[in-house]
Amino acid sequence: MIEIALPKGRLGDNVYAMFKKIGINATDIEAKTRKLFFEDEKNEIRFYLIKPSDVAIYVERGAVDIGIVGKDSLIESGVDVYELLDLNIGKCNMCVCSPNSFEDTGNSTLKVATKYPYIAKDYYGEREIDIIKLNGSIELAPLIGMSDVIVDIVETGSTLRENNLKVDTIIMELSARVIASKSRYNFQKDKIDKLLLELGGNKIL
Ligand code: PRP
Repeated sequence: MIEIALPKGRLGDNVYAMFKKIGINATDIEAKTRKLFFEDEKNEIRFYLIKPSDVAIYVERGAVDIGIVGKDSLIESGVDVYELLDLNIGKCNMCVCSPNSFEDTGNSTLKVATKYPYIAKDYYGEREIDIIKLNGSIELAPLIGMSDVIVDIVETGSTLRENNLKVDTIIMELSARVIASKSRYNFQKDKIDKLLLELGGNKIL
């Protein structure tokens, strides 16, 4: 059995569609019930539905063989795992954004609202910043004066446009990755590699 951590939500739905295309079908997974694990007995695959920001932890701890995560969650969580494949979906950018009227003079301590404190700190390096860690609706923070800028994901740009914000800097490009547990990958390497080959994408490891 290969155990796979799928992120709940749109990315997980898209990745499951990729599995379906290669003939993997876990009964009931599309029924949108409260159930959190699903099996394709014939192909010996079990899926777990996990909060996207927790997938990397499940994989690092060896609770599953592989998982699908956004590169953003992978970097932010700082886990020690194998990064096997870039699925070339869920493409977006990690950006510094601010209100249309804001210009960073670089003089004062910059207030940065973000879901990604590690990535933000790393980006600003030696610069003195005040990190405001939030869990969602990040774009609101600079609009109501709680922060100067945000460090957040921009996909279509609609959220920025509808809230009068702009991109100042693209920090990095992001996409969905397949990661594997260092303690479990070698036991199932051939089976996992075969599965990933069928799935497509760009091999990293
Ligand atoms: C993410 C991200 C941005 C938005 C970007 O939020 O934090 O707010 O998507 O997408 P866009 O460029 O296509 O508008 P999410 O939808 O995860 O909601 P959240 O506010 O709860 O974090």
